[in-house]
Amino acid sequence: LIQVKLQVVNGSEIYKNEMLKYPVLLGDHAWIVIEKFLQELPGYESIFILTDHHTRDLCLPVLFRKAPFLRERPVYSIPPGESSKELRIVEGLLMWLINSGAMKNSLLVNLGGGVVSDIGGFAAATLKRGISYVNIPTSLIGQADAAIGGKTGVNISGIKNQVGVFYDPLAVFILPEFLVTLPERHVMSGNAEIIKSAVLAGGTNWEILKKANLRERSTLPGLIKNTVDFKCSVVARDPLENHERKMLNFGHTIGHALESFSNENGKEGLLHGEAVAAGMICEAFISTETCGLPANVTDEITRIILDNSRLEKLDAGFIDYFHVLMDHDKKMTPAGVGFSLIENPGMPCLEKIVSRKTIRDSFLFYNKTM
Ligand code: GLY
Repeated sequence: LIQVKLQVVNGSEIYKNEMLKYPVLLGDHAWIVIEKFLQELPGYESIFILTDHHTRDLCLPVLFRKAPFLRERPVYSIPPGESSKELRIVEGLLMWLINSGAMKNSLLVNLGGGVVSDIGGFAAATLKRGISYVNIPTSLIGQADAAIGGKTGVNISGIKNQVGVFYDPLAVFILPEFLVTLPERHVMSGNAEIIKSAVLAGGTNWEILKKANLRERSTLPGLIKNTVDFKCSVVARDPLENHERKMLNFGHTIGHALESFSNENGKEGLLHGEAVAAGMICEAFISTETCGLPANVTDEITRIILDNSRLEKLDAGFIDYFHVLMDHDKKMTPAGVGFSLIENPGMPCLEKIVSRKTIRDSFLFYNKTM
């Protein structure tokens, strides 16, 4: 199923995925390689660190303790949350990097969740037409999904990920110990990407997920490993999302519209994973209507999502206005939005144009499960 190399460094186990052009290292002992990796990079004397205010307070002291040679490096911190995924925040970061003397051979260390890696990766991609960066994801969403695959960018006018580039990090270091300080709501939100990955992988991953207790934090590192390996295998085959990688958008067409709607005008709305969890229930229903996903599997997926997520009924306003938001979806084609659905666990059903009636019915299905 999955090819993972287990490295033993100084007697400690570190999983190393080498399917991409850059290594993805996983394990609480990945500290051992971070310092070595960064010190051995040629010509990166000038290293800068990006955090958000939460990871600055909770994760940066851990980074400094475990990798002391990073201690004197300049740190830039952005406000936490999706509202920071804006061009003005990238501009602030770029100005700071330039004023702090960043050069073409500088390195940016992104210490944070998906917002930090999206913003930091985008700034790294554009500063002097591209400097290097590494991701040290600290949230479950970041560790299981966002930090891997080189997607960077920002939202525009509240529409998710309208502007961005694919730009690969030099390495990704996943340290599950950061999850200890993650609030329960954010862990539950991250479960969505783990469930999505297992549904898309099918086979053993799906069987493991069905039996797993996601509320037990000690099960997370093993599930993150499976999720990371599956994502790396998909991204390795289709890095720029021309075909196969589209499957990773399962739950995201409705999820992104819901996330944008709930966070409109600076409101503190749904977290990314919460919106994707709701989106996956709707899109499992649509998969049954459109791709023949057996109804009992839709029910099984729905039950697992409901058991492991914090969800509420859909707002009537969303049901009325979802199509306006979806018109901006990046998967839009002249025929309509191409949904990434499933025929069965492990069997994607891609680029499906879905009628407005079926989408509306999926919202009714979702609300009935609440
Ligand atoms: N988050 C989905 C992807 O990276 O393609």
